[in-house]
Amino acid sequence: MQGRIPMSDFASSLFFVFGILLRFCSCDGPILDDLPRGVEVNAADLLLVQVVHRHGEREALFNIPVAGETTAKDLKSFPKEAQLTADGVRQMYEYGRFMRQRYHKYFENGEKSSSQRIRVISSATDRTISSAQALIAGLLPPNGTARQWNSPLGAHWVPFPVYSRPSTHDGLLLNFKDDCPVFTEMRDSIGTMPIALQLQEEMKDFTRDVSRATGLAHYDFFETSTAIEDAIHYRRTHPQLFTNVTAPTSSWPSWMNNTLADGFKRIADMRMQLVVGGNGDRVRTRFRAGALLYEIFERMNASRWNAGKNYLKMVQYSGHDENVAAILAALNLYNYTLEGPNFGIPEFTASIIMELHKNNTVRLLLKNDPAHIWDDPVVLMHPECQVPFCPLDKLYALLSDVIVDEETWKEECGLPGSKLGNRLSMRSGSSVGLAESIVIAGTLVAFALIFATIVALVVYLVRRRKRRSLDVNGYSATYEFSNTNGHRPA
Ligand SMILES: *[C@@H]1O[C@H](CO)[C@@H](O)[C@H](O)[C@H]1NC(C)=O
Ligand SMILES: *[C@@H]1O[C@H](CO)[C@@H](O)[C@H](O)[C@H]1NC(C)=O
Ligand SMILES: *[C@@H]1O[C@H](CO)[C@@H](O)[C@H](O)[C@H]1NC(C)=O
Ligand SMILES: *[C@@H]1O[C@H](CO)[C@@H](O)[C@H](O)[C@H]1NC(C)=O
Ligand SMILES: *[C@@H]1O[C@H](CO)[C@@H](O)[C@H](O)[C@H]1NC(C)=O
Ligand SMILES: *[C@@H]1O[C@H](CO)[C@@H](O)[C@H](O)[C@H]1NC(C)=O
Repeated sequence: MQGRIPMSDFASSLFFVFGILLRFCSCDGPILDDLPRGVEVNAADLLLVQVVHRHGEREALFNIPVAGETTAKDLKSFPKEAQLTADGVRQMYEYGRFMRQRYHKYFENGEKSSSQRIRVISSATDRTISSAQALIAGLLPPNGTARQWNSPLGAHWVPFPVYSRPSTHDGLLLNFKDDCPVFTEMRDSIGTMPIALQLQEEMKDFTRDVSRATGLAHYDFFETSTAIEDAIHYRRTHPQLFTNVTAPTSSWPSWMNNTLADGFKRIADMRMQLVVGGNGDRVRTRFRAGALLYEIFERMNASRWNAGKNYLKMVQYSGHDENVAAILAALNLYNYTLEGPNFGIPEFTASIIMELHKNNTVRLLLKNDPAHIWDDPVVLMHPECQVPFCPLDKLYALLSDVIVDEETWKEECGLPGSKLGNRLSMRSGSSVGLAESIVIAGTLVAFALIFATIVALVVYLVRRRKRRSLDVNGYSATYEFSNTNGHRPA
């Protein structure tokens, strides 16, 4: 029996060889049969396409009671991570199909596998990872290509890698509260900015009405309003989930009316503008968009200098409303005025498409309408580069005040570095001799190091447990309502 090749091994070897052969064939191109006609981009002109998008429609982040009084406690009671809804999946799938239609020529005849040509990066939330998967399903259906596998499902869908960093170490997309203490402080303090105080003054009556109606004596003007707005919006669009009456507002709490809903929306929109520095606050914009923009420009640099050798053709960043808003702010296209009209919170699926063309120009495009995914994107122009194709170097120069590499970003965030060694300076000055003081100091340092190591180990273990529970529950117990949205992009 020994020496005989088991049939299954042989079969798998065959598949392996065929797999290699199939890789060399160029039948990995996109399928167009099932797509509506639309604008196609001239493949020969493109070097790299990068997309930063918000996830599709999700559940509300917070629950509010249908009737009766609302307390701050009620607003804390959404124990799960807001998931992508069925509509949200459909939106992102459609978005993927749109991208396939628009860029199919660009993907054609690649001798590299799809996963070498397309990179998908997501923040570590259920809704963004799910969005990325739905998008890819629409962008790269496997039927009729080498990626098709042997199952009824294999004609429609194939696994595709989605990269993600732990939520606590993601300065690019998520920017969780521990990631950047300095920025967290800035988020929490938007209420003290002059323009915010002005709005609060203007909306005094509104605040009084809300307090009276909800029984919330003191609530956070920005954070609570944003959470209520989110819940109200969700109920407006999904009345059937809350009641069997289909009038869009029938699931609202008894105290809610259109006037109040508009007020909450106005506040939530302003909050978004101020958090990402839409009012011209470049420091906030730098904190929120800088590291991501750095990566985006670095990738454009790489494509530019390695033209022809770089296989990467598309990068999809699956993120949040704040990511899209902060890039708009970086481009000086997210300006806030009290009078309005203002751009507001980017819609579900909102995206910025950045096309690097072979003549080293960048075309920036915006999509912001989940109900009309197939509409052509709008061309964005930086106020100081009023042409549809802005030279890459010029665009870089215009944004350079907010672009920051992640290491520098961390320093600016005030993250505690490992400066332990510096603090363990020798405490001499007594009457002991030099040699003795060195020995004593050395011993002290050694003890201190051992002690520090033990402490660090304990801290690490405790934190790891905390983080684990955080990952499991999505929202952790420490996740306080009053500063929730500020720390967790939506
Ligand atoms: C750059 O290339 C695009 C096509 O990829 C073209 O439409 C545009 O006019 C060119 N811009 C400049 C400045 O050459
Ligand atoms: C791939 O699937 C789509 C939708 O299911 C279908 O319309 C199309 O004809 C298929 N194409 C091939 C090449 O099988
Ligand atoms: C909306 O509700 C608030 C609070 O209950 C109330 O003060 C206000 O008069 C209502 N507005 C309208 C137009 O019904
Ligand atoms: C629908 O509404 C009716 C009348 O208000 C109620 O009796 C019934 O239980 C409701 N059904 C569901 C599924 O909520
Ligand atoms: C926003 O608009 C106002 C008024 O039009 C202007 O004064 C201000 O400079 C603008 N800010 C930015 C960041 O563009
Ligand atoms: C891209 O390249 C230019 C030089 O051409 C350089 O000045 C810039 O720092 C680079 N940007 C990034 C983000 O790597």
